[in-house]
Amino acid sequence: MSGDETTTTPPVLRVRGVHKSFDGTAVLSGIDLDIASHQVVVAIGASGSGKSTLLKTINLLERVDDGQIFLKGDDITDPRVNVDSVRSRIGVVFQQFNLFPHLSVIDNVTLASRKVHGVARDEAEAEAERWLDRIGLRAKLKDYPDRLSGGQQQRVAIVRAILSKPELLLLDEITSALDPLLVGEVLDLVRDLKTAGATILMTTHEMSFARSAADHVVFLHQGVILEQGAPDAFFGAPTAPETREYLSRLHAG
Ligand SMILES: Nc1ncnc2c1ncn2[C@@H]1O[C@H](COP(=O)(O)OP(=O)(O)OP(=O)(O)O)[C@@H](O)[C@H]1O
Ligand SMILES: [Mg+2]
Repeated sequence: MSGDETTTTPPVLRVRGVHKSFDGTAVLSGIDLDIASHQVVVAIGASGSGKSTLLKTINLLERVDDGQIFLKGDDITDPRVNVDSVRSRIGVVFQQFNLFPHLSVIDNVTLASRKVHGVARDEAEAEAERWLDRIGLRAKLKDYPDRLSGGQQQRVAIVRAILSKPELLLLDEITSALDPLLVGEVLDLVRDLKTAGATILMTTHEMSFARSAADHVVFLHQGVILEQGAPDAFFGAPTAPETREYLSRLHAG
């Protein structure tokens, strides 16, 4: 019985045959991707290859033209789906502008858990303080975002996303807008989340992070997954010429 359970448990995310065009131009051309529980999948690829669009279709910020996306077996691309309820199951952090500027750190991070998930203020704040303590920002909980460095803001944004206990975390270029000195502290927090068992789909240009922290790497090229694999195999011996060229351009740059 238990053996059957493991084989029948759906992955956290299942993307099947997803297509998306903008104004007649194909941006995603048949994406298939599975992410199992506790896996960290890193999507890489040149600018314009469709990485952000893929994340947006999963968060229902963009509707797919064709194909299906399942969250723990639920078809979230079904037009009858409740968009807010799907979004409440997914945590999202973007490159920048993640925090509400008019709310303090503590209000920023507890707002969703209180308003969307109905957690009592005391309970939400206690948990938020534990996380802020862990990332060294407990002293800043009454501050407004403009008093924080970019790296601190992104760590607060990540804490905000995980306090809602999302089934899936989408991180889109969360370190791209940061001073290089601040990138490490944000990526360290992502490593902590991985250790804590989070299921993550992220895009990044930080290849050393992808190599050391990802369970699986996918390379997008013109809207298709051209190559994918475990990081050691993927980075150690990429096979597609496009992958090699992309990686060598990064090293050259
Ligand atoms: N809302 C939109 N309307 C029209 N075109 C769009 C829209 N969103 C994205 N595109 C186009 O789709 C293509 C893929 O964009 P996307 O943002 O997914 O790329 P990306 O891989 O995330 O690139 P980057 O590394 O620069 O973030 C681009 O050519 C972009 O101009
Ligand atoms: Mg992008």
